[in-house]
Amino acid sequence: MNSSTSKTAYLCSSCGNDFPKWFGQCPACHEWGTLKEFKLSKKKKSRGQTPRSAVTPLNDVIIDESSARISTRIAEVDRVLGRGLLKGTLLLLSGQPGIGKSTLALQIVGGVEHAALYVSAEESQEQIALRAKRLNINTKKLSLSSENNVENIIEQIEIDKPELVIIDSIQTIYVDALDSMPGSISQVRESGQRFLQTCKQKKISIMIIGHVTKDGTIAGPKMLEHMVDTVLYLEGDERYDHRILRSVKNRFGATNEVGIFQMGEGGMVEVSNPSELFLAEKIDNVAGSAVFPSLEGTRPILIEVQALVSKANFGNPQRNVNGIDLRRLAMLLAVLEKRLKISMGMNDTFVNIVGGMRIDDPAADLAIICAIASSALNKSIMSDTVIIGEVGLAGEVRSVSQLSKRLNEAELLGFKKAFIPKFKSTNTRHDPKKIKVERINTVRDVFNQLF
Ligand code: TYD
Ligand code: MG
Repeated sequence: MNSSTSKTAYLCSSCGNDFPKWFGQCPACHEWGTLKEFKLSKKKKSRGQTPRSAVTPLNDVIIDESSARISTRIAEVDRVLGRGLLKGTLLLLSGQPGIGKSTLALQIVGGVEHAALYVSAEESQEQIALRAKRLNINTKKLSLSSENNVENIIEQIEIDKPELVIIDSIQTIYVDALDSMPGSISQVRESGQRFLQTCKQKKISIMIIGHVTKDGTIAGPKMLEHMVDTVLYLEGDERYDHRILRSVKNRFGATNEVGIFQMGEGGMVEVSNPSELFLAEKIDNVAGSAVFPSLEGTRPILIEVQALVSKANFGNPQRNVNGIDLRRLAMLLAVLEKRLKISMGMNDTFVNIVGGMRIDDPAADLAIICAIASSALNKSIMSDTVIIGEVGLAGEVRSVSQLSKRLNEAELLGFKKAFIPKFKSTNTRHDPKKIKVERINTVRDVFNQLF
């Protein structure tokens, strides 16, 4: 190889870091066998060619707050972004194929009042125009492009001067300088870098769409997450028609904020009262079901936790979860076994968070443990009851964040009774009007009252 025309680097397909030599294990992310050789073209600028950017004293930096944020006219999206789209941000919208990313992106560009460019190499312009028609989008400020070369896209941006650009999707985009295929880790990284420069220099927003699979086998977008300002996940369960838009990283707003939509004929429709949606199919007085006021970002959402405990037929008992961490379940089962003397060792246990929600909040522990016990003992929990609390290893119930918000939502939805942690909950300036609050110390206290 002639080293004056290209340079060899080894790029990790998991984290995207590059190294001058090959390693069996990536020194950065410690994955094994992920380093692949690729050739960096020397077409890149050499050091010193790029003009140094000037420094400005802090007080002289002009902040133009009036026009800094663009509303997408979709309240749920604006909230997830943090009061709209901030100019000069690079966003990543990722999700499984077919979940509705293109639909949502088109609705977003249809909503903004500024000039926008929708670059799609995945679908033809006719297909996008047809979709736009179906979504009732007829704005004169939107242009479509089916370009998939980064240099050309950036040139187009310079000519058209749009304020919002959608790239659908990063897996179809390539830069000239690299030999590798579109969608390869090196192409994704290089394109991401170019878009980052463009959006910072021109103070425009660029939203990159990236496909990922549930198990994260497509590594490209994962790697882009470090580069972009905001990462949005569009999630959902094939069994339901609602979709959850979640911000997992946001340099300019709160993270873990969620927006809830329903996918219908006319695209994504905002759901303004998600608690009602998530509890819609709940059957009263069935053993193994508990309701928990979850907090998604700043917003409380009531969620049903279902558990099924049945005798294991043979071999090791199964533990299956949907929406919670398996290790969390193991811990709660150990507490049940050791502190409450409910034998779980010979039983299969299944836990499901209804509606495809995912809960990391430890405040859900008590509801989960109650749902499991309810199924194991075959005694239902009163359907007008919500359960809140983190469970400790000693079987104690620990305090949780933002209790009043959770209680208010439960009260609003007509719940009559709430089990809450005793500790610190005297500080809660919640004035229980319609909801009866039971302050409890241990899991045993709750069980004594429930079962
Ligand atoms: P799409 O936005 O193409 O998904 P992605 O870009 O994430 O791959 O949407 C795919 C699905 O959404 C497709 O099966 C059709 C369905 N859909 C609706 O249900 N309603 C609509 O209004 C639109 C445009 C799509
Ligand atoms: Mg698409």
